Amino acid sequence: MKHNTSEILKEQDMSNDVITRSKKPFSDCKIIERANVLRDNDLYFFFRAIEDTAASTVTVKGKKQIMIGSNNYLGLTHHPVVQEAAIKAIEKFGTGCTGSRFLNGNLSIHEELDEKIAKYLGHEKAIVFSTGMQANLGALSAICGPKDLMLFDSENHASIIDASRLALGTTFKYKHNDMASLEELLESNVSRFNRVIIVADGVFSMTGDILRLPEIVKLAKKYGAYVYVDDAHGLGVMGPQGRGTMHHFDVVKDVDFNMGTFSKSFASIGGVISGSADAIDYVRHSARSFMFSASMPPAAVATVSACIDVVSNDPTILENLWTNVEFMKNGFKELGFFTYGSQTPIIPLFIGDDMKAVKMTKFLEANGVFATPVLPPAVPKGEALIRTSYMASHDKKDLATVLEVFADAKKVFEIPSNLH
Ligand SMILES: Cc1ncc(COP(=O)(O)O)c(C=O)c1O
Repeated sequence: MKHNTSEILKEQDMSNDVITRSKKPFSDCKIIERANVLRDNDLYFFFRAIEDTAASTVTVKGKKQIMIGSNNYLGLTHHPVVQEAAIKAIEKFGTGCTGSRFLNGNLSIHEELDEKIAKYLGHEKAIVFSTGMQANLGALSAICGPKDLMLFDSENHASIIDASRLALGTTFKYKHNDMASLEELLESNVSRFNRVIIVADGVFSMTGDILRLPEIVKLAKKYGAYVYVDDAHGLGVMGPQGRGTMHHFDVVKDVDFNMGTFSKSFASIGGVISGSADAIDYVRHSARSFMFSASMPPAAVATVSACIDVVSNDPTILENLWTNVEFMKNGFKELGFFTYGSQTPIIPLFIGDDMKAVKMTKFLEANGVFATPVLPPAVPKGEALIRTSYMASHDKKDLATVLEVFADAKKVFEIPSNLH
């Protein structure tokens, strides 16, 4: 409260004396400095503009390339039945829902997809979110309250890391796929928290490792913990008819929450959480990224629904995928690349040095192959890799060409055949 005129004038005088301070520029940030070094050396392979796409090729800067850097595992983005379903949905419902499912954006086809995917996954209930990232953010922050504990694998996806930052509960990390490390944390913490939730990727996104889910389930039972599987890379790929990692191991009933994304095998965008009716109803009424963000657009909903039909009814799609994966795994082994023992369509190739990884990506691009380098911090320092991934729609001739290009690259770049 200002009492007199002189006090007010004194304050105005001071405000005239304020020294201006310049804003801190973003160009000084380490990440931008690093990006600029890559740009200056014509080695920047992020945000590549794809001008045209087909089932397993893309066009970049006017040049057609064989795509081995996509998550379109089933190759359904250009499947005629899937495309037709998306077009029909736009014709009926328009292009967007303009609101969250909680309020005005809940279409009958969202509800139908909830039911269809719950049945496909073998869980009592499911709800679809607008992205997989939002599914993890919303569900995990809802499930892990202030008195709860999340135990998560050190190689979990960024969306789980961010979810743990958002959740009010505590998070401890265990060593990647290391059950002794997980049990140590369970043993010393279960009595200190209300709920304990073990959270891990079903198929790890960078290395293609499969989660040791049967062992996780066993530990969860022993210590009374919940199991949450992020099956972004397992959905559509693993198990019979692509029903996911929990089906691959036949432990559906023991997985409390199964998360999936539609931005990979299901050729669209969106995410899903499934589990018991009560748990999913709880998530539906508490996940903020579900309640306060607009719902999946109609074309995306119809695409996912059609993808489930296609993969359920046409066994040749998964047969082609796994034949292609075997072909490439054996091919890289013969060429002497270290592939981290991957058993999935994600086949990472260890390169080691960052610069070598981007130079090799440039070599691949110049020879008509689109692959993605993975650099620290996404991987540990000195463990840069080129992540390759395969689709049901890849043509054998194209894959043979890819192997020839990698054989040539191996002659140009010294690439270690082992991790260290
Ligand atoms: C393991 C994992 N979880 C979650 C996500 C997020 O999925 P979405 O692309 O649907 O947001 C991804 C996508 O990269 C992922 O790889």
